Amino acid sequence: MTDALTVHGGTPLRGQVRVRGAKNLVSKAMVAAVLGDAPSRLYDVPRIRDVEVVRTLLELHEVRVRDGAEPGELVLDPANVEQAQVDEINVHAGSSRIPVLLCGPLLHRLGHAFIPDLGGCNIGGRPIDFHLQSLREFGAIVDKTPTGLDISAPNGLHGTKLALPYPSVGATEQVLLTAVLAEGVTELRNAAVEPEIVDLICLLQKMGAIIQVHTDRVIEIEGVQRLGGYAHRPIPDRIEVASWAAAALATRGDVLVRGARQVDMMTFLNVFRSVGGAFEVTDTGIRFWYPGGELSAVAIETDVHPGFMTDWQQPLVVALTQARGLSIVHETVYERRFGYVDALNAMGATIQVYRECLGGTPCRWGRRNFQHSAVIAGPSKLHGADLVVPDLRAGFSHLIAALAAEGASRVYGVQLINRGYEDFEAKLRALGAHVDG
Ligand code: EPZ
Repeated sequence: MTDALTVHGGTPLRGQVRVRGAKNLVSKAMVAAVLGDAPSRLYDVPRIRDVEVVRTLLELHEVRVRDGAEPGELVLDPANVEQAQVDEINVHAGSSRIPVLLCGPLLHRLGHAFIPDLGGCNIGGRPIDFHLQSLREFGAIVDKTPTGLDISAPNGLHGTKLALPYPSVGATEQVLLTAVLAEGVTELRNAAVEPEIVDLICLLQKMGAIIQVHTDRVIEIEGVQRLGGYAHRPIPDRIEVASWAAAALATRGDVLVRGARQVDMMTFLNVFRSVGGAFEVTDTGIRFWYPGGELSAVAIETDVHPGFMTDWQQPLVVALTQARGLSIVHETVYERRFGYVDALNAMGATIQVYRECLGGTPCRWGRRNFQHSAVIAGPSKLHGADLVVPDLRAGFSHLIAALAAEGASRVYGVQLINRGYEDFEAKLRALGAHVDG
């Protein structure tokens, strides 16, 4: 596949697509398999780059990963992890943030872990201070080296009481993956409770973990001596679902997203309806369509679950360029997630970004130099342009904008979109989009 696509816009997307297991659960589930003393089976795994990266990383740690009988099934056997030669792993980390989640499992299995400098989308500073502080509280010793982190636990890992400064998804997963085999009880306050985290908890419970989710973001984990394997079908990818929904609305089309579940999408569905989109929940998924008439401007703030996901805002903003009036989007999760709007403006959108918190809740980025609020004035006629994909979600938004625009766009760097969207080119074609390489 080439790294550039020509998109001939102006055709409504019509038809159906299928979403598989959530990228942001599948990669963590693969890491969790390292904790078991028996093989695990993961179903509905999408063929995306992030899965390949984690697979390579696990194989470097001598986890045997093979395709199972069912399409999308992976079998992960961690029996030989103790024999791993881990010197090579720094070569493979560059495009992902998942390696940091191997800390707990590797400390339990090997007594030490080396975590190379991390990659991932450039949407903010993305520090890992919460992760490292949590590991220290479990009793780990963390040494920063020029190429990464050397982590050891000479006296083992012990349950502890922790409170996160912010309900970070990754840090919550770090604590879960470490606490399940630590000695004693761990209490985590201000935990993230995203559906992917609840799904990870379910999977760990299948392995033998004892985890209670209390009210008010408190999670309690009772360490156990051993964990077995799991057989798990992950929750569907709710970011991909919202991406296709926004694409249907922005192109005035009609798309059935097979595999989508209402329970994961409730917050998104409310906003979709307020903008003027229509949807129908069916037994097989959710159908999203443009019912005609004018779209309406909305004001939203991104937030941790159950708020409006930060990863939903980029595709939705493209649809908001077609709504009458001024829409406001206040991004409270990442400080630099509006880099992509320059490209939309170059295509004819009118989007202004601000440093101020343009929402009801002042956030961590207010009164600092972060342009984290956007005002979108619409409706705007979009026209084709040359676009360069800056990061995963922004990249898909560029595609949606190109599909909604009049004329042809050349989109460069589309391989980045493969990190999180399975077969997106084939899916676009199946929906009637005119794209060529
Ligand atoms: C996960 O990232 C997802 N990635 C992101 O999806 C998603 O946007 C994000 O959660 C929020 O839902 C994966 O699951 C692989 P965080 P994560 O820790 O875990 C700050 C996508 O496109 N923070 O919840 O890295 C951080 O800087 C991606 O699929 C610290 O300050 O997100 C951010 O402002 C992009 N210190 C906030 O917390 C830390 O040690 C939330 O980050 C950790 C995080």
